[in-house]
Order: sequence, then C-alpha cells, then structure tokens
Amino acid sequence: MAVSAKIHGFMEQGGWIRKMFEMGIALKEQYGEENVFDLSLGNPVVEPPEEFHQELLRLAENPIKGMHRYMPNNGYPGTRQAVADGLKTETGMAFTAADIVMTCGAAAAINVVLKTILNPGQEVIILSPYFVEYGYYIDNHGGTAVIVATDESFQPDLKAIEGAINERTRAIIINSPNNPSGVVYPRELLAALGELLAHSEKKHGGEIYLISDEPYRRIIYDGLSYPQVFPHHLNTIVVNSHAKDLALPGERIGYMAVNPDCPDKAELADGLTFCNRMLGFVNAPALMQHVVRALQGVTVNPLDYQRKRDFLYSRLTQMGYTVTHPQGAFYLFPESPVDDDVAFVDALQNWNVLTVPGRGFGTPGYFRISYCVEDKVLEGAMYGFAKAAEEFGLQGAHSD
Ligand SMILES: Cc1ncc(COP(=O)(O)O)c(C=O)c1O
Repeated sequence: MAVSAKIHGFMEQGGWIRKMFEMGIALKEQYGEENVFDLSLGNPVVEPPEEFHQELLRLAENPIKGMHRYMPNNGYPGTRQAVADGLKTETGMAFTAADIVMTCGAAAAINVVLKTILNPGQEVIILSPYFVEYGYYIDNHGGTAVIVATDESFQPDLKAIEGAINERTRAIIINSPNNPSGVVYPRELLAALGELLAHSEKKHGGEIYLISDEPYRRIIYDGLSYPQVFPHHLNTIVVNSHAKDLALPGERIGYMAVNPDCPDKAELADGLTFCNRMLGFVNAPALMQHVVRALQGVTVNPLDYQRKRDFLYSRLTQMGYTVTHPQGAFYLFPESPVDDDVAFVDALQNWNVLTVPGRGFGTPGYFRISYCVEDKVLEGAMYGFAKAAEEFGLQGAHSD
C-alpha cells in the first residue's frame, strides 16, 4: 500500500465533505453546471470586501522594501499589533502584539496549538457535531480525541463535559458560531464552562486549555453581538482565520491569540511561535499579513448570509424539515427524515442536490447544508428538497 495503514483508514472513513464536493464536479460534467445544486462545501461565494482589493493595489504600487523576505516566525510586529488592537476593542482586554502569532489560517493554528501543548496520550475534548478535521489534528500530535455530544439544541452539555474531564484532559475545543449547526454559545454558558475548567484544573493539578476556534465570529445574525470567550477562562487560546470574515480561504491567513491574563502567556506564545516554524509553516504568508494589517475592522456583509439563512430556514421548515435556527456561520444542520443520513443524502443527490451526511461531523441522523452559495443555487435546490420531503413523508411537503 502506498500510504500508511492509518492514513488509509482515515481516507476510507473521513472526508465526506470532499467526497461530496468531488461528486458535485462529476455531476456538473454530466448534467451541466446550472442543473446541479452543490451545498456541500463551506467555500464562500462572496468576493472579498472592496478594501481588500484597494490595499492589494496600494501595496503593488508602493512596495515596502524587503516585504517578501523571511520574518520573525510569529509574524510582522505591525500586523500582530493591529490584531491586538482589534481584539482590545472587541473584548476590552489588554492585548499586545506579544499575545498574537500569525498563522496559515485556522487549520494551521489548531495544529500549532496542539503541537505546543500536548504531551503523549493526553486528551482533547471535542463536542459533536464537530468540524471533522479536529480528530485528525489531535491525532497528528499524539493526543486522543474524546467526543462529547452537545444537547438537543447543539449547545455544550456541561454535565457531560464534566463527566469526560480527568487527569489526562489537556484541552477542549469549542467552535461558535458552529460548523455545522450554526448555533452561537451564549455568555452564561461560556461563563459556566470557564468555571468548570478552572475548578477541574485545581482538582487535577494542570492547565486545561480552552481552544476557541472562531473563523465565523463576525458572521453573526439578528443583531447579536459575539459572546467573547476570553473573559471566562485564563488558559484560553483563540484561533481565527480570515477565510470567512474576509472571504479569503485560498490565501491561508489567520492567527492565534493568547489570553493576555494567562499566567504563562510568554512561554506559551514562544511555544506557539516555535511550533509554527517547526511544523513547516515557518510563518504566515507575507503579502497577506501586509494586507490584513489594514483590514482588522473590515468584514464581509453578514446580512447577505442572514438573508440566505432566512430563505432556506423558512422554506425547509414549511416543507416539514426539523431545523435548529442558526444565528451565525453559513450552515444549516437539519434532522434527516430517516435515521440513515447517508441514505437521505443519497436521495437528495438523485435530485442533484448535494449536502453532507451528519456522520461526517460525528452526528448521524442529520445532514449539513452549506449556504454560502449564490441565491440561484439555493432556489434551484428547493425542488429537490421538496421532492425528498415528499418521498420520506414529511408533513407539509409538496413540490409544486
Ligand atoms: C470550524 C472550522 N474551523 C477551522 C476551519 C479551517 O479554516 P482555515 O481555512 O482558516 O484553515 C474551518 C473551515 O471551514 C472551519 O469551518
């Protein structure tokens, strides 16, 4: 076998999102682009904000001497300062450039954090449904993923988390707004989680890191302001990305931020910087660091996504689907009308509608719809959703 047995196993069981994406490409070749409704991948269709192009142009016309050379592994001081200033404004906490390490997106950031903090055999709690790559990232760095289910509204179940914590627990990863459920964790819940972690640290005698994965922090609806995670636990590390808030997923730019009140923040930031280099990322892309320095206050318009959510949520619930109302990100995670979510996703595929089965997120019995697509794709998918609702006997289903 060309690949290791472990990777072979991962490739067999995982990768639902990519599998559906590749299926979409094949179906488009067969039926034509406009007849396939691909809601499988979180690849934003919106363009980056105008300010991004202006900044790119400004840099091209006024290059900074040495702007493409090697740099400190944690990134340019000016960019880290801009990120720190933005976080100071958002949280009211005293961030400095020393608390920030620029990364190649959130995926790299999570890997760097885990590399930095994990001793062999330590455990990391993840909450299902979860972003499927977490399991692979934890494995990458010798940790063990401990999966804890969320409650019926996809909110963290504190009792279950408490039951999963033991002396081997090193971290918990949370993600709000959540991929795939779209739910936002309220302040009170984060406060209670912080208390639980602080209490557990005392009980077991070691740090338990709260890793908050926040690429959708600014894609939030209904006038909600983002419930910040930092104030609730000293050992918090936020990982973030500009893949979604500036619609730059291909540019691989993001950051890690250490709680400015974390007791060992200097050692932690040094460790993160070292691992950023050691894992082979070396540093975040220079050009993007120059660009996002000026864009920390800029975001794609969340109202575009909110409008898509409203359309999809109201149409699907009218058809009889059961869906938790999402308040952020750009995903919907409805219940599958049959227990076998793969069978349902296959049925939708017969109508050229591509979604991802819930088991791809550790939660069978559901399916994920990604709605960061053009309106015409969402509208076109409605017929298939209605037909599948009819086929599986949902109340309210009609496909006229
Ligand atoms: C929850 C979550 N975390 C991390 C990532 C990875 O983001 P990036 O592209 O910045 O690596 C994604 C991407 O979709 C995501 O949904």
